[in-house]
This record gives sequence, C-alpha cells and structure tokens, in this order.
Amino acid sequence: MKNSKSFHSLAVHAGGNLSKHQGAISTPIFNASTFAFPDAEKGSAIHEGEIPGYFYSRINNPTQEVLESAMAELESGEAAIAFSSGMAAISGALLTYLKPGDHLVAPESIYASTSGLLEYLTSLGMEVTLVDATNSENYKQAIQDNTKVFYLESPANPTLKLCDIRGVSSIANKARINTLLDNTFATPYNQTPIEFGVDAVVHSMTKYIGGHADILGGVLIGSKGLVEKCRWSINKLFGGVPSPLTCWLALRGIKTLALRMEKHNSNALAIAEFLESHPKVKKVHYPGLTSHPQHELAKKQMRGFGGMIAFEVGGVREGRQLVNNVKLCTLAVSLGDVSTLIQHSASMTHASVPKELRTRAGITDGLIRLSVGIEDADDIIEDLDRALSKVH
Ligand SMILES: Cc1ncc(COP(=O)(O)O)c(C=O)c1O
Repeated sequence: MKNSKSFHSLAVHAGGNLSKHQGAISTPIFNASTFAFPDAEKGSAIHEGEIPGYFYSRINNPTQEVLESAMAELESGEAAIAFSSGMAAISGALLTYLKPGDHLVAPESIYASTSGLLEYLTSLGMEVTLVDATNSENYKQAIQDNTKVFYLESPANPTLKLCDIRGVSSIANKARINTLLDNTFATPYNQTPIEFGVDAVVHSMTKYIGGHADILGGVLIGSKGLVEKCRWSINKLFGGVPSPLTCWLALRGIKTLALRMEKHNSNALAIAEFLESHPKVKKVHYPGLTSHPQHELAKKQMRGFGGMIAFEVGGVREGRQLVNNVKLCTLAVSLGDVSTLIQHSASMTHASVPKELRTRAGITDGLIRLSVGIEDADDIIEDLDRALSKVH
C-alpha cells in the first residue's frame, strides 16, 4: 500500500478530514472520556464494536483516530492504534501476538526496556531467543515449532546496527512467522518497513514523531485485523491509551516531520564525518558512513540515515568527561528532539542490561549516544570539539 504522494505533502495532510471536523484546519482536541449513545440498540452495537462510533476514550477518541490514520498513511500500513508510550505499544503488540508457550526471536542489540520486557515475557511463559540480528540467517537458525514473532529494531538503539528488513521478512513469510519492527530511530521519512514485507511497525512517538521532547506516546501500525484485535483485547484491558492532548501534539509534530528529518539527516552526516576524523574518537557508528559495516544495506533500505550517532571515546571515565563538558548539547536521555541530546549508554539508558549482554550487543563502556538536533551543524561540531579537548 505504497503512498503516491511525496512524504512532505503526506506529512502535512496525513489523517486530515476537514469535513468531519467542521472544516477545522487544526484537528480539534476532543477532551472527552465518554460519548452519548444515540439510542439503546445502537449503543449496544457501538459498545461491542459491531458498528463504528465513539463511546469511551479507552477504546477510541476522534482526535486519536486522526493520529492513527496519519501514522497508518505515513507507514504505508492499513491501520494503526496509538498508545500512551512506546513501551505500551511494544508490549501491546507483543501480547496481541503471543500467548504462553509461544516463542519469539529478537536482536541482542535493542532498546534496554524492550530487552527488559522480553525477559519479563519469559516469566509469563513465553520463550525468547536473542540473536545477532545483523545476519538474517541467525533468525532462520533460531526458528522453533512454536516461533510466532520475529522482532526487529533497525537501526538499533544505541549501536546503530541494522537488520536486513527484506531478508528477515522473507524468511518469516515462508515460515508463517509474524514480523514486528521498531522504526523509532529511522522514522517513516527514512524507512517504511511494511513496503519491505514487515507485517507491523511500532514507534515511540515520544521521539521524532512528537519531535519536541514534550510528549510520551507510542503507536502500532499493521493490518486492520491485528490493530483491531489489539484495540479490543490487550489495549482495552491494559488501558495504555494516550490523552487527546498527546494525540494532538503528535499530530502537530507530524506536520513538520519531513522538514525536521531532512535537517537531522544532514546534520548527523556532517557530525559523524567530523567525529570520524577526530583523534580522540576511537570509532563512529552511523549507517551513512562508508565505514559502517552495513552501509550498502542502509543505502538499500533507508532513504536517509537518520539523526542518531554512537561513538566511542575510551572507557567510562572518558565518556563521562565528554558528556560533562558539552554546553550546546544537553546531557539527557531520550532522542529525536529538535535540540541535540547526548548520553553515556553504559551508565544511563543501557545500565539495566547485564554487562555480558551489553558487551555481546556492542555497547562498550565508552559508547556515547548522540541524538543530533536541528541546530546549526557547525555549532554542534564546535561544542563537541571543545568537549573532546577535555577528554584525557
Ligand atoms: C528504539 C526505542 N523504542 C522504544 C522506546 C520506548 O519508548 P517510550 O519511552 O515512549 O516508552 C524507546 C525509548 O527510548 C526507544 O529508543
């Protein structure tokens, strides 16, 4: 279901339906928890999802619905469901797919709370195998009779490792295994995995979709069957729904997503090249650099290489020296904001991951994660250069 409009036009108009909201150019915020039924018969049918309609905002809400249509359009998916956070979207999707006794294959290098969630799923009776996801064959080797989901995160947080989206999807499709990909780092501006054969995509909308570090949100995009199953089962029962204001802020973020991503992409490439040439930097991980071991794959499946960079400056001491000396960049977790955020993965976002798994995943003690903002690239470079001069 590839969209024919350019992404810039799509981002501005996605989800919009002026006639539905009295011509309002900005989608109204339906700040309501409950909606009146027209009569008892229709009320019962709406309540049971037999006919369309709103009745309670844990199930749906008109503002949320516009956001869901927008995200489905941007990701070339059939339908979408929004959540209160990225983790609510990931757990909602996985619990929709899996029941106790089912098996899932996922990358070793992955966002830390997703890693924690997978471990938690094992306590609920699911089986999990972690693989080096840079080689699709490892997914194939891990297949068991009870394998139900291949989970992908590409590019991965924080290592910027890639999965071969087409390769893994094709193995999964042949074996009738569902594929779910976390597209938070790339955004649909740079990568639309459903067009490469993935069944469903999740996002932390907290990041680039919102874009301004002022919301927590998540979304699952996939078939209507998957999305509605999730809405009427897991999400209805677990209740991880976003507020109408959150949905509105995410919608507002989407309108400038293309413009912001253009700048994130060009800034990050310039900064990755600067870091690669700096004597104090041991290694730079950025899919847009020819030195990235999967650069050719990146060119095949990404339209741009994103705003996230990881680089190594030695050990914990050097990493801390660097992040303590930046001035324009902000020492903070999260990513995808208009301002540049920097953090030390081993002691911050990925501190909860056991050291042995961190090492296997490539998260070294001196790894710095940089979420490049939309400031002037030269200003960010100057700030990093000065902070690097303080690293001994
Ligand atoms: C790749 C990725 N996925 C999911 C999440 C979780 O999103 P949230 O914090 O919105 O729950 C994050 C958060 O950092 C992330 O980086």
